[in-house]
Amino acid sequence: MKPLGTAIQPSIATRIYPRAALADPFEMGTFTVAKVGDLRDGQAKVVDAGGTPVALIHARGTYRAFSNVCRHRGGPIGEGHVDLKEGVVICPFHGWQYDLDTAKARLNPMAKLEIYKVEVVGQEIRVTV
Ligand code: FES
Repeated sequence: MKPLGTAIQPSIATRIYPRAALADPFEMGTFTVAKVGDLRDGQAKVVDAGGTPVALIHARGTYRAFSNVCRHRGGPIGEGHVDLKEGVVICPFHGWQYDLDTAKARLNPMAKLEIYKVEVVGQEIRVTV
C-alpha cells in the first residue's frame, strides 16, 4: 500500500505557470466601439472592444456596456431584446432578464453581468474593458 502523500499528484489546475504562458489574448484599455446614432434607443448590439465582445445597449438616452456572456449558459446578451418599459435586456437563448441599471439577473440577483465604463466623446462611443 502506497503512503497517502505519494498517491496525490498535482492536477493541471494547481500547477503554477509563468505569467507569459497565461498572457491574455484580449487587450485592456479604452476602445471606440460605435458612433452615436449607430444604435436606436432600445437597441442592443455586440461590439468589439479590443477583442472583448461587449453588449452595448442604448436605453433611455444613455449607453451601457455589459459583458456579452449570459450567466445562465453563455448566450449573447448583445443580441438580446431591450425592454425599456421593464428596464431589462433579455438574453436571446432562454430569456433571462438583466436589469439595465444593475446588470443583475431578475431571477437570480447573484448572477450579474460585468459592467464596463462607457464614454461618449464627440460622436464616438468608447468602452473601457
Ligand atoms: S443562455 Fe442566457 S438565458 Fe440561457
